[in-house]
Amino acid sequence: MTDRPYVIDTFISAKAIAARVEALGAEITAHYKGSDRLVVVGLLRGSFMFVADLMREIDLPVEVDFLEASSYGNALHSSKEVRILKDLRGEIAGRDVLVVEDIVDSGFTLTHVKRLLESRSPKRLEVCALLDKPSRREIEVKATWTGFTIPDEFVVGYGLDYAQRHRNLPFIGKVRFPE
Ligand code: IMP
Ligand code: MG
Repeated sequence: MTDRPYVIDTFISAKAIAARVEALGAEITAHYKGSDRLVVVGLLRGSFMFVADLMREIDLPVEVDFLEASSYGNALHSSKEVRILKDLRGEIAGRDVLVVEDIVDSGFTLTHVKRLLESRSPKRLEVCALLDKPSRREIEVKATWTGFTIPDEFVVGYGLDYAQRHRNLPFIGKVRFPE
């Protein structure tokens, strides 16, 4: 996979990300105004950087928890199975839950996570996704807030990886394979 040479082209600058995160934080703060029951649920690992920045833009009492899910192809069902690798530490019943995801692609991960968390009776469950690739959707699911809607490109940086690399880039780049 990584033995094929590739380059990373800047796609969304650190400055553009910061501006968008600030705006999302303001919208989320307005939405949950008055709530002292908010918990941000970051989906590991891709959302860790976004969670850290977004939380600093939320001007409310807020807690953080993390969930790790992994999706993998299932040839038999031409769909994906999603496994929970790490569950939340805290209870979410009666809480305002904001799921924070790095990118919505086929939609299977978010659909599964939403179904799981809804079964625990939160007061409200919303989703904030940094990126959305709607043209890749295989199962209909929407985030309440989306940072950037992007075309069908493989992106890395700001938490997102290619074979576990490049999560540390401060910007979002496109992976390109030169001829
Ligand atoms: P979904 O279940 O297909 O929506 O998968 C979403 C997950 O796939 C994301 O949380 C990412 O971890 C991963 N993913 C999808 N597209 C990309 C990409 O362009 N770059 C890096 N990871 C991606
Ligand atoms: Mg992910």
